[in-house]
Amino acid sequence: MMLRVENLSAGYGSLNVLDQVSLDVNEGEVVALFGHNGAGKSTLLRTIFGLVGGARGEIRFRGERILNAPPQTLTGRGIAFVPQGRGVFANLTVAENLRLGLLAAGISADSVEGKRRFERVVQHLPLLRERFHERAGRLSGGQQQMVSIGRALALGPSLLLMDEPSIGLSPKIVQEVIQLVRRLRDEAGLAVLLVEQNVRQALRVAQRIYVMKTGVVILETTPQQLTDRKSLWELF
Ligand SMILES: Nc1ncnc2c1ncn2[C@@H]1O[C@H](COP(=O)(O)OP(=O)(O)OP(=O)(O)O)[C@@H](O)[C@H]1O
Ligand SMILES: [Mg+2]
Repeated sequence: MMLRVENLSAGYGSLNVLDQVSLDVNEGEVVALFGHNGAGKSTLLRTIFGLVGGARGEIRFRGERILNAPPQTLTGRGIAFVPQGRGVFANLTVAENLRLGLLAAGISADSVEGKRRFERVVQHLPLLRERFHERAGRLSGGQQQMVSIGRALALGPSLLLMDEPSIGLSPKIVQEVIQLVRRLRDEAGLAVLLVEQNVRQALRVAQRIYVMKTGVVILETTPQQLTDRKSLWELF
């Protein structure tokens, strides 16, 4: 088991959002997380990434406790987070945005390791090379999403937490994002915890699925077990 979340409860001040959530991600596995708006999917990812204080329960990454560990610590262990909403620095160029990713990993872009990582990122996201010196704010929504993913990849993670990477994107770009997730798993061995509204697309890449409702995991299943897809839609 790579990531193990056990009986995790968390929220904001007096508002409890997550209620005893348990969930696992294996090495090299893509796990999809579905649920209504407000179900707590982002809160779960943010809590795993140490962005929601005062969480209770247990989170282990490769056996080590990481509950309430700060993001820098998690980054150092190999966890990267692509937040909901693109979150690129609009006034910085694509290259500068990627450099920030490296910086977060404590690596200079000019070092041998820095160059190697850059190369790896643009290998997965060739579009970035073409737009390297353009201000990120001038890219399309889909392209900005790729920059955001690229910045996370620059950290050289083994687990990627992705919060609705394809939100607001055209069907073609959604497919590209899903294909990218597949390539990252198949070629780079990355594990991905993927929050995705586009259930149909996510089912094409996920090996396992969790469904959340009002802060609770109400279903754990696999695409194969979902022979009756209708039952999944009815949960929403
Ligand atoms: N920073 C915050 N402060 C207070 N309450 C918050 C905060 N962020 C989220 N919430 C509340 O927590 C609950 C869960 O929100 P969350 O963003 O985790 O849902 P979600 O499943 O990601 O929804 P969506 O699909 O719309 O992104 C909601 O009731 C929301 O209002
Ligand atoms: Mg969300």
